[in-house]
Amino acid sequence: MAVNSKKQDDISETLVPTHIGVIMDGNGRWAKKRLLPRKLGHREGAKTFKKIALAGKAMGVKYMTFYAFSTENWKRPKDEVDAIMKLFEEYLDDVSSFEKENIRLVFIGDRSMLSTNLREKMKHAEEISRDFDSMTVILAVNYGGQSEICHSVKEIAKKVKDGELDINDIDEHLIEKNLYTGNIPPVDLIIRPSGEMRLSNFLIWQSAYAEYYFTDILWPDFKEKDLGEAIKAFSDRNRRFGGI
Ligand code: FPP
Repeated sequence: MAVNSKKQDDISETLVPTHIGVIMDGNGRWAKKRLLPRKLGHREGAKTFKKIALAGKAMGVKYMTFYAFSTENWKRPKDEVDAIMKLFEEYLDDVSSFEKENIRLVFIGDRSMLSTNLREKMKHAEEISRDFDSMTVILAVNYGGQSEICHSVKEIAKKVKDGELDINDIDEHLIEKNLYTGNIPPVDLIIRPSGEMRLSNFLIWQSAYAEYYFTDILWPDFKEKDLGEAIKAFSDRNRRFGGI
């Protein structure tokens, strides 16, 4: 974490989290309130994703992880799932706008269930942005924290079976290194809009010492100032990491 440089007056002298996780919730309710189809809520939610990622960068946040599609979201009607997948593709076609901002894109989650087309676009976006260093935006797609931990454990088990690792080498650090987020610092602040107060299987390992910020605002209505307020609230908390 760093004390923000005075780029934005309203958050100067604020302790800015290094890594923020965002659960983009409330798209469906936003659409329903306007008598619109749910997929239009997701379309607005995707615009908010881009706006808030750029605002995070301007405020000095180095990593932002957005929960875009969970391992449980396949239970939704097919046309809604298809609409969300289409949005991912559209935003990946527009990857040059992240390029201009020098933003690295990373995807976490199980890609095996995604279309070949989408997987190729994800790979391409990761490759071209690999060395961009103003900020890292991580999109969690077909992501679940419990399945991520299973994935890490399987990777380690393979190495123990092949004799590359001893069972006594297994510790928190090794499990962490084998998560999808292996090279990404733990999350400092989790933001969940829309009035729900759950983690919903998001970054469950990485958020062991995170602070949580809940607001009733629906994700498509979430503005730059709301991100600033969440960061201010974080800055006012007293994190002790188990100490006193
Ligand atoms: C949760 O709101 C939202 C999702 C499951 C999908 C989030 C996806 C997007 C914002 C599109 C992302 C696109 C890009 C390019 C990152 P909900 O539908 O559960 O809302 P509700 O609780 O009001 O029904």
